Amino acid sequence: MDIPPSPAAPENNPDMADAAPDPKAPAVIRREDYAPFAWLVPEVQLDFDLGLDATRVVAKLTVVRNAKADPSPTIRLNGDDIVPLGVSVDGEPTLDWSMDGSDLLIPLSAEAHEITIATQIDPSANTQLMGLYASEGMLCTQCEAEGFRRITFFPDRPDVLSVYTVRMRGDFPVLLSNGNLVAQGTCEDGVPWAEWHDPWPKPSYLFALVAGDLVANSDRFTTMSGREVALNIYVRAGDLERTGHAMESLKASMRWDEEVFGREYDLDLFNIVAVSDFNMGAMENKGLNVFNTKYVLADSDTATDADYDGIEGVIAHEYFHNWSGNRVTCRDWFQLSLKEGITVLRDQLFSQDMGSAAVKRIADVRVLRGAQFPEDSGPLAHPIRPDSYQEISNFYTATVYNKGAEVIRMMRTMCGEERFRAGCDLYFERHDGEAATCEDFVRAMEDGAGLDLSQFRLWYSQAGTPKLSLRLEHEGDAATLHVTQEVPPTPGQPVKQPMPIPLQIALFDRNSANHNGEKLLTITESQASFSFSGYPKEPVVSVNRGFSAPVIIERDVAQEELVFLAAHDDDPFARYEALQDLVVGHLKAAVNGTLDEAAHAEGEAAIAKAIGAVLTDDALDDLMRGELLVLPSETYLAETIPVADPGAIHAAREGLKAHLGRVLAADFHALYDRAEKVPFSLSAEARGARKIKSLVLSYAAASDPAKAAELAAQQYAKADNMTDRQGALMVLCGLENDAREAALKDFYARFTGNALVIDKWFALQASSLHPRVLDHVEALAKHPDFTMKNPNRVRSLHMAMAYNPHAFHDASGRGYRMIADLILALDPVNPQTASRFVGQLGRWRRIEPVRSAMMREQLERIAAVASLSRDTREQVDKSLG
Ligand code: TRP
Ligand code: ZN
Repeated sequence: MDIPPSPAAPENNPDMADAAPDPKAPAVIRREDYAPFAWLVPEVQLDFDLGLDATRVVAKLTVVRNAKADPSPTIRLNGDDIVPLGVSVDGEPTLDWSMDGSDLLIPLSAEAHEITIATQIDPSANTQLMGLYASEGMLCTQCEAEGFRRITFFPDRPDVLSVYTVRMRGDFPVLLSNGNLVAQGTCEDGVPWAEWHDPWPKPSYLFALVAGDLVANSDRFTTMSGREVALNIYVRAGDLERTGHAMESLKASMRWDEEVFGREYDLDLFNIVAVSDFNMGAMENKGLNVFNTKYVLADSDTATDADYDGIEGVIAHEYFHNWSGNRVTCRDWFQLSLKEGITVLRDQLFSQDMGSAAVKRIADVRVLRGAQFPEDSGPLAHPIRPDSYQEISNFYTATVYNKGAEVIRMMRTMCGEERFRAGCDLYFERHDGEAATCEDFVRAMEDGAGLDLSQFRLWYSQAGTPKLSLRLEHEGDAATLHVTQEVPPTPGQPVKQPMPIPLQIALFDRNSANHNGEKLLTITESQASFSFSGYPKEPVVSVNRGFSAPVIIERDVAQEELVFLAAHDDDPFARYEALQDLVVGHLKAAVNGTLDEAAHAEGEAAIAKAIGAVLTDDALDDLMRGELLVLPSETYLAETIPVADPGAIHAAREGLKAHLGRVLAADFHALYDRAEKVPFSLSAEARGARKIKSLVLSYAAASDPAKAAELAAQQYAKADNMTDRQGALMVLCGLENDAREAALKDFYARFTGNALVIDKWFALQASSLHPRVLDHVEALAKHPDFTMKNPNRVRSLHMAMAYNPHAFHDASGRGYRMIADLILALDPVNPQTASRFVGQLGRWRRIEPVRSAMMREQLERIAAVASLSRDTREQVDKSLG
């Protein structure tokens, strides 16, 4: 590899000085500007000489003119924080290249060339965790969305698909990349090497490499056509015993995708590697998924039931990407929801099938309302297919992922499972091996499922959560439902068109508590009326059953009707929703001060009656009972109020919890006593019992703190699993009590060395209801185990605090200051993670004036820093703008 030295370091390259962008004018990338790349790169060969502090990379690219693109006399290869150490064209070293910003430009004259480029990187200095980085002595990569350009110069865009051959040498027992292992051995100097080949053309964002001292849990899977696939989950030696659940989840996912979507795996090998330093949950690199340890490692002593569910869902999600994402990928990053929306839907449906479908649906709606609705109603609102961005990492959002999944779920609801499957089949068949668009998916659904989606496309282009107002009119034997819809204005989209909204409803007879079948209404205009005859008595309407559309519903409904539905609705989601509506209605009125004493007492009594029925209904399983007992979150409540007072919301909600805990104490404790007798297992029954125990403790904490502390201390001491232990510690953390300190100390000592459990120790304290929670967070930020270099740890402490309304919205404004300080300190280290905090401060317009001003002040303090990353700059400017 004789490659000449660099002709000019980038800092004294005149081309670069010319191209220096105006720092005040952020570069905006627009969807409408898409143009295909001028070159195809059918083959790539990468040679790595691996070291933790210095890794040399030689990339050999076969490039051919793209007949479908405008011809160009040069090729533009993206780079980020790298310099070319040498460039060859067709085997000849050349100095004929230049830099444009961080891109490398090479003039090319013929139809086809071979380009060789050498770079060197320092993985240990890579704190952004994008590209090739070191994590606890191992090397791994994260290339989505634009991390590959931190490894070598390349057309780092998802519509350039290449076949990769990867050779690497380095002092690591395990050397992995995508595809199949071709050969391996030991160099003369004793250093191990390996060669990998991935036969499936892929974009650079799906490239992966891992090198480390790892051990594998190995298993096999036989595909529907009888092919054998070797499965490995690579972890550090001490973690091997905690990989069983991940492996079971993987095999279940592979089988389910064959049975439900007809999708078979397409390599002889599927590897998963767990790393502790990771920006997100996991990554679907072809044949080599890289995972945050949080979504791999579990045993009953260290992982909660929720952790088990998280692992099952994320393993499935990444595996499902093999078809929805990898075999069919995205043309450009505006199409991100093409792969994420469908893959989230697929993992949700999988988890519905693996456990309780009703409970899973409720949990998914809770996530949507807690994370996506606030996004859609704030300054960062964007359609599931955005029209522009400054930094694509900022668009891995609940909107693109979760609302994206809801949009596809609506298609499925409108055509039914079978036709939906036909549409998906056509999509995969038509676009296999291609980089596709959301429009391609919609067209495949039209052609394959027979849907007319012309108006439905608005769900891709319009941001904002539609609001439906419902009114029932009853006359003679006819019931008429009048519906109006309004899509609120969002940044850049002041005026909206009405969207097609599939609304599943049922009309209940008040006496028999039965209905005569579900009806699917589709609201396509801003106003519509639907009449139903055969109702001599006014029916009780159950709406948005199964949460058939991601909308907000406003209706003037009598408390007693909600109590009726909370007791009788046969759709589990609608039953949950009735209870939520009952509570939201009461708390909103309480916060607004529109309730006199009598009305307040009446509201509390109605809720107590409904919750009391849930506590004693023998037909309910405990997992579902648990869902019904969770009060709407403070975030969701704030979302239903135009300008919210977080302090008043907190007080009202805690007040209601205390009231319910008091008046229903006997039922709560009877339930606790029953649940306590259920021995540990992973069965639905035992999991339900654990959920009930923690819920009873949290109601007790509000109504009878002394009793709660006693029970929680007992539960903590007796716990033979992490769910019980964490549930008890969570309650203790919020109380001023000796048992609190003792339990925290015990927990820390018991689990030192287990980073994922120490994360819980941080998170429990940061999300607590303790009056001095902010003092605790401040002290924990100085704890020797705290580091800003590990995203899981930052999420455990600061993210947990930022999403704890009682802490973040502390009336002094200190929570806002602490988060702004964190953003400023973290931004230079890990901009992707830092920018994820901005959205919380960005809620200022929806918060009462005193807090609002303090939130805004912190945003302005951040905005004043000139050296902000592109990630944080975009979010801060939009939040203020
Ligand atoms: N594509 C991944 C998924 O949804 C997530 C992902 C995107 C990611 N960008 C990342 C993971 C950066 C880690 C780091 O499954
Ligand atoms: Zn994904």
